[in-house]
Amino acid sequence: MTIAPESRRLLTVLPMTGRTHGSRSASVCHWKCADACARPDENTSGTERFVDVARQALQRRASRRSVLAGTVAGAALAGLSGIAPAAAAPRPRVAVGSTGAFGFTAIDPVGNTVDDVTVPAGWRWHPIIAWGDPVEAGAPAWDPQNQSAEAQKKQFGYNNDYLDVVPFRGNGNRGLLVANHEYTNDELMFPDYGTTDEAARLRNLETAMYAHGMSVVEVKRRGKGAPWEALRRSRYNRRITLDTQFVLDGPAAGSPLLRTSEDPTGTRVFGTLNNCAGSTTPWGTVLSGEENVDQYFTGPTDPTAREARYGLNTAGRGWGAVQSRFDLRNTATRNEPNRFNWVVELDPENPDEAPVKHTAMGRFKHEGAHVQIAPSGHAVAYSGDDNRFDYLYKFVSRDTFREGPSQAARRHNKTLLSDGDLYVARFVGDGLADGEYDGTGTWLPLVVDGRSMVPGMSVEEVLVYTRVAADTVGATGLDRPEDVEPSPVSGFVYIACTNNTRRTGAQTDEANPRANNKDGHVIELREDAGDPTGRTFTWTILLLCGDPEDESVLTYFGGWDGPVSPISCPDNLAFDDAGNLWVSTDGQPGTIGYNDGLYLVPVEGPERGRVQQFLAVPTGAETCGPQVKAQDGYVLVAVQHPGDFGDASYANPRSTFPYDGVFAGARPACIQVLPA
Ligand code: FEO
Ligand code: CA
Ligand code: CA
Repeated sequence: MTIAPESRRLLTVLPMTGRTHGSRSASVCHWKCADACARPDENTSGTERFVDVARQALQRRASRRSVLAGTVAGAALAGLSGIAPAAAAPRPRVAVGSTGAFGFTAIDPVGNTVDDVTVPAGWRWHPIIAWGDPVEAGAPAWDPQNQSAEAQKKQFGYNNDYLDVVPFRGNGNRGLLVANHEYTNDELMFPDYGTTDEAARLRNLETAMYAHGMSVVEVKRRGKGAPWEALRRSRYNRRITLDTQFVLDGPAAGSPLLRTSEDPTGTRVFGTLNNCAGSTTPWGTVLSGEENVDQYFTGPTDPTAREARYGLNTAGRGWGAVQSRFDLRNTATRNEPNRFNWVVELDPENPDEAPVKHTAMGRFKHEGAHVQIAPSGHAVAYSGDDNRFDYLYKFVSRDTFREGPSQAARRHNKTLLSDGDLYVARFVGDGLADGEYDGTGTWLPLVVDGRSMVPGMSVEEVLVYTRVAADTVGATGLDRPEDVEPSPVSGFVYIACTNNTRRTGAQTDEANPRANNKDGHVIELREDAGDPTGRTFTWTILLLCGDPEDESVLTYFGGWDGPVSPISCPDNLAFDDAGNLWVSTDGQPGTIGYNDGLYLVPVEGPERGRVQQFLAVPTGAETCGPQVKAQDGYVLVAVQHPGDFGDASYANPRSTFPYDGVFAGARPACIQVLPA
């Protein structure tokens, strides 16, 4: 396949224009994670010290070998020595006409100015629900010229990340859509954004605050193959907002570290924030990760080392003007940040039940959390901490999963994440002699059997300042570990390391082998003896992402030598029923010049590593929340921050997605892709 002249021009001209240290546009970085790309690394704990050990070992072995330019081993040598990598052999992109396991023909990569959802021939897409659509009873029709917090509290929120449709038991044509609302693009939302009128400014600010959170919406369809339609009236429809009371449970609940003047018990907190990826548990609840929460707090002016480790040293979004708990100069609510950055569990079937924040699973910038049930019956949850040089964690429940559809079993299973052991991963490379980036690993204990395994820290301190605890035991810093998902077929665990352009050559190791890693990679982890509750594992790199035709970037596609679709910045992961991995991307317009998309990646058999693009989202957008319901014949995707560019505004939109004429700009939305 050849690149269209138009695409070649875009590749040449656009990729790094206005980009941050990562690959996102400057405006995405600002609104999504408070300019994290421009700020110092939050992990300055000594990752490099451990990397150095690995690097020396690898270099000793590497010195006995010649440079294998264009091979995996050659890439490792180049990365570890901190020099520009040797040129990789160019590899053609996926050929038009190839057919993936899900029965589609891979799309051509879509240039990063195309404002459209691109799906394979024979497929169509359909918006299920978008920002502003009514959710709760009494929600007013969305009026972009007259937005308010009161209206937004009942309407679908902004910027969806996690997304699923959970069918009702016994009725596959009705179900509950659950979506996260991670953050807001205020400049695209409000016609008078930037106003000097204080009342109008505060009205916009409060509206944006209530566009965060989560939504539960009942959906129905006429039958298999028909699109899901959102119901306006349902007893299940629910907005989770800053007014929703959550229960803090687990070993740190009630700790003085979690108490404020508004909650002297340290067991209740209003709201959930920056909900990024997530998962649906085997017992039918939804887990959601609270990620870049620091951006909502102003201050402090004298952060302790522990607070600085969580990025709490910012000007914030000024939310303290609406709710004083977001201004850390208010000493009475000084612990409020400690009440966020948790894994949240929501039961969509019980609209009157308070969602839970699980302190047993530790506090960090959770991308999400995914559970698999071990052969022993224990629930094992994996979670990535999405920051440069941060860590991979594992939680193992104290109690075991109960099978069966009974309410008693469900009630029991909803307690599984409330008590258990917490670990953080150390990766050790086995050298380059085998020509692969792979090795062994250890789950370093943080809390076991209710006791702290971290010298000098109590259980409560380990759980509230988990990053600090993980620094202490010597975990391996990864290149922004985002979604972490176990295969339902093999049990192997896949870790999307989205990128890390701050990693230097001196900081590379076998698990993070590329300096200036702008395209990211995917690690495959296999628990020893197939036991997810164990303390050791092996791992290998499945993908070194990038444009295979770019000879300046070393890429690797699971050993597959044929054509592949270019892919960069892996973020959310999903599996289909056959055990194929699906990867959605965030940021590749800034790296390989194409709109973000969703990709099929077989992980077993002769097509292992054969990356094939299923869809592309509109310009400026990120692909989130993928669900691949292969047996049911459809795919769900959340289109996040469509049209998000530094020069875009309410009056000057860069996208009109979902093209329904409701709004002159773009509305983030949940879409379904199904056969035409
Ligand atoms: Fe919200 Fe790590 O992406
Ligand atoms: Ca190796
Ligand atoms: Ca993400």
